[in-house]
Amino acid sequence: MKNAILDAIENRRTTNKYDSSRDIDDAQINELVRLATRAPTAFHLQNWRFIAVKTPQAKARLRALAFDQPKVTEAAVTFIVVGQLASHLLMAERLASSVAAGFMPTEVVTGWEGAGKALYFEQPQRQRDEAVRTATFGAGQLMFAAQAQGLGSSPMIGFDAAGVASEFGLASDEVPVVLVTVGYAAEGNWPQKPRRSVTELLSVV
Ligand SMILES: Cc1cc2nc3c(=O)[nH]c(=O)nc-3n(C[C@H](O)[C@H](O)[C@H](O)COP(=O)(O)O)c2cc1C
Repeated sequence: MKNAILDAIENRRTTNKYDSSRDIDDAQINELVRLATRAPTAFHLQNWRFIAVKTPQAKARLRALAFDQPKVTEAAVTFIVVGQLASHLLMAERLASSVAAGFMPTEVVTGWEGAGKALYFEQPQRQRDEAVRTATFGAGQLMFAAQAQGLGSSPMIGFDAAGVASEFGLASDEVPVVLVTVGYAAEGNWPQKPRRSVTELLSVV
């Protein structure tokens, strides 16, 4: 039997050309984010947020901040994947449902809060690194969720981060990490690009 995960990994490619006549509905957008947030985060912080930019007006505002890249308006939706600066103060609330489910003892929460404080408190670089890691895992999984639904996607770093933060109302502890366009692919997209060889980039020690 074919392995669906391997198949997705082998075949994902960046979609630049979208069929702008085909929309995706809010239920599909919800499902994409539900699947994306099955990705892991440090201490189960879930320090991410997804802004689905879908209306023509909002897409135009985002495209103006994304170096006028056409796919922002041609794709059915562009997600602003946002990471939240990591803080041990978030943990009690984010872990409460695992405690309530009965498998996580409260002492674990206390232990994780101590470790998280040691790691992040007054450490702005680490707080931001975690925000970027979290959003990157979320964006990666979002792309595979899209592929599983027969949709194309593209990650994008070509945007004005300060402009996006202000135009889309991000909080002071939020970082717009990456944009991900999602929609039905049109004809004429490039295949997945060849990769550097594993021998060039892998060391086994
Ligand atoms: C972090 C990141 C940022 C990217 N930013 C852009 C972008 O702003 N515009 C764009 O057209 N493609 C962007 N890409 C897509 C890459 O060019 C693409 O993934 C790469 O060329 C490999 O192509 P493939 O995924 O089809 O094999 C970005 C990819 C990543 C991972």
